[in-house]
Amino acid sequence: MLHLPGGQTPLWNHMDSVEPAGLQPGKRASGCPQKGLFQPSDSSELVQECLQQFKVTRTQLQQIQASLLDSMEQALTGEASPAPGVRMLPTYVGSTPHGNEQGNFVVLELGASGASLRVLWVTLTGIKGQRVEPKSQEFVIPQEVVLGTGQQLFDFAAHCLFEFLGAHSVGNQGLQLGFSFSFPCHQTGLDRVRWRGNRDSGWRGNAAPMKAFGSVTQLFCPQSTLISWTKGFRCSGVEGQDVVQLLRDAIQRQGAYSIDVVAVVNDTVGTMMGCEPGVGSCEVGLVIDTGTNVCYMEEARHVAMLDEDRGRTCISVEWGSFNDDGALGPVLTTFDHALDHASLNPGAQRFEKMIGGLYLGELVRLVLAHLAQHRVLFGGYTSPALLSQGSILLEHVAEMEDPTTGAARVHTILQELGLSPEASDAELVQRVCAAVCSRAAQLCAAALAAILSRLQRSREQQILQVTVATGGQVLERHPRFRGILQETVKLLASECNVSFIPSVDGGGRGVAMVTAVAARLAAHRRLLEETLAPFRLSHEQLATVQTQMREAMAKGLRREASSLRMLPTYVRATPDGSERGDFLALDLGGTNFRVLLVRVAEGGVQIVNQVYSIPECVAQGSGQQLFDHIVDCIVDFQQKQGLRGQSLPLGFTFSFPCKQLGLDQGILLNWTKGFNASGCEGQDVVYLLREAIKRRQAVELNVVAIVNDTVGTMMSCGYEDPRCEMGLIVGTGTNACYMEELQNVAGVAGDSGHMCINMEWGAFGDDGSLGMLSTCFDVRVDQASINPGKQRASRPSAFRLGTSSRPSFSLRLKATAWPCDRSEPSWRIWGCP
Ligand code: GLC
Repeated sequence: MLHLPGGQTPLWNHMDSVEPAGLQPGKRASGCPQKGLFQPSDSSELVQECLQQFKVTRTQLQQIQASLLDSMEQALTGEASPAPGVRMLPTYVGSTPHGNEQGNFVVLELGASGASLRVLWVTLTGIKGQRVEPKSQEFVIPQEVVLGTGQQLFDFAAHCLFEFLGAHSVGNQGLQLGFSFSFPCHQTGLDRVRWRGNRDSGWRGNAAPMKAFGSVTQLFCPQSTLISWTKGFRCSGVEGQDVVQLLRDAIQRQGAYSIDVVAVVNDTVGTMMGCEPGVGSCEVGLVIDTGTNVCYMEEARHVAMLDEDRGRTCISVEWGSFNDDGALGPVLTTFDHALDHASLNPGAQRFEKMIGGLYLGELVRLVLAHLAQHRVLFGGYTSPALLSQGSILLEHVAEMEDPTTGAARVHTILQELGLSPEASDAELVQRVCAAVCSRAAQLCAAALAAILSRLQRSREQQILQVTVATGGQVLERHPRFRGILQETVKLLASECNVSFIPSVDGGGRGVAMVTAVAARLAAHRRLLEETLAPFRLSHEQLATVQTQMREAMAKGLRREASSLRMLPTYVRATPDGSERGDFLALDLGGTNFRVLLVRVAEGGVQIVNQVYSIPECVAQGSGQQLFDHIVDCIVDFQQKQGLRGQSLPLGFTFSFPCKQLGLDQGILLNWTKGFNASGCEGQDVVYLLREAIKRRQAVELNVVAIVNDTVGTMMSCGYEDPRCEMGLIVGTGTNACYMEELQNVAGVAGDSGHMCINMEWGAFGDDGSLGMLSTCFDVRVDQASINPGKQRASRPSAFRLGTSSRPSFSLRLKATAWPCDRSEPSWRIWGCP
């Protein structure tokens, strides 16, 4: 049995031979061809035909390039049928490294280099050009684990992890781990939210409703679901499962270390992200290891699976599964079919099986065994090792092809396989190795050319300048592979200027880079979530607010102490639609101060209005200044509208808390919303307006009514729909009015009929009853306001959300029932600009 230089057991050594039964060690082969393989007449013809099968023409390479490009583009659009040849999996890596990433990270690599795993301790300095050599250790995964249960595999991984951490004494708390898991996986974004606690468990998308109460802990971690094993792994119970969770569970089972799995990445992504800065941005990561794959930065708007229209995102192409009959069919040899047939996953990863390091040695073995069986090699003798699956490895092929020592190595390796090579055998064995590996390099080049075409197309560039980070044992160990690959790429993508840069630390550094970014994002998200959590209201909290408001309303109506003033407006009915005439209107206290001309006629209502500004020094100056300014604006409006000399009835929408004594008499209780003009509180604002009119001699104005903006909103909607009995404003401030049974309103004469009540709900909770909802931000906004302790309920609206120049909007409620009074309210909300 042969051993890898590193002492690893070859992946397939234990497996059954793929050769026909009956061949005895050292026995001469019968010369009978294997089923499906051809039988040429003489040996040179047989050699010729064998090797010819591995030749790929330029046209075939171009067909593969075009077909792969088609498959990629189909997969990007999300079209499921016909099934696209490649998976194009989003990795949620949104940019190449900036070079300032820093920190210490543990990296666990599983699946890149066959049946081994690697643990690294990577220090990122955040300073360009300043590199700290990582510490690393490789562990061989026993065959029974590779083919055992998922739990065995992840327990083994956790065990290796702890052994490494123990040996390198890096502390045992708060370690951040990047998991390089090189198998096809569906990933979720790095900022996915996981809820854990006694009231809820499992995953939720970001858009899912969040709970504010209970002992719920939020964790931020990635999720990565294994689609299928590749490259000789077949652990049960892992496909379809989240491998991050499996690793977390295994880490927890071992105890001892507190490790946070912060990021999960494919080896191609690690390779791309670890590309040494200074060579321009590297946007392609190519891996040719036991398997093969590529990732590249795609425009996010082209990826249907993502709901993003800006920036770029890294896509793992998973080209190992590319399997287009039209393009690949003609280049598949009888040896490829035999290899696939005997593999753990027949029919899958067909492209990878022609290129990956796990398969190159096996293809060589199949050809050598075939030639031996046909007496072209080794004098027609075979050996049990030659007939055993997996007995020739990539390392052997690479060594046998070495231009200086290769010939000598062929002899030693064949002897180790129990064969007695003749002098002429060595050259033929080398030709077989060269044929298999050249084809692999050319196929890989065709596939890479497809990626370059894709980049060129999506970037709309004539000449594409691109850096490709490369990694994997095939590129590192095989003497000619890299050269053939690069030459063929030049041929197939002549309009691209490509630089190939070998990866640093086998991609470990890149994984640490992604981990650093993910850790930073998770910390930001955590802070954001913690900050926003108090703003999220539960149903229970809303129900409490509703109950408290009903109680406060009832008290306010009875004139008992309440934070809701429940002010009678002396509006006793909503309009019946028969109202006619021209009116002037003032609107003060909304987002803008406006003067309006309202013409109510048979054909409908016409409104002309103009917005005037109220300088802050006026809003907070003296009352006289404020009302003089208001009258100046009215006069200006009259002039512009040609209304001079006409004395139209004027309605005053005054959106501040007023105790009304009649329709045209309103005592300002207190200023709100940034107004603080002196000498107005406790005064009748209609009187103040009339006084200002008098001061501006020669102006005739007839003030007939004062209304709150909620009342104005309700009445204007009521004009069109008699069922409208509520007015709701959520603008600079917030408030509501509604039609109440007169018998419930204390302090106003009469028992029948209705009265519109201005609730002044902006002050709701000023008695402290809403304390449980108050966040530290509410407290600070309140303290910094000009009326601390007042109108706290109005602050959660527009004031806190932004500037006072936000467009206000009013909502008109078409109410068929007042929801507090009826058990089954049925109501509709209409928004009007
Ligand atoms: C296989 C895996 C892929 C990986 C590649 C190289 O194709 O499916 O995820 O990147 O091997 O290791």
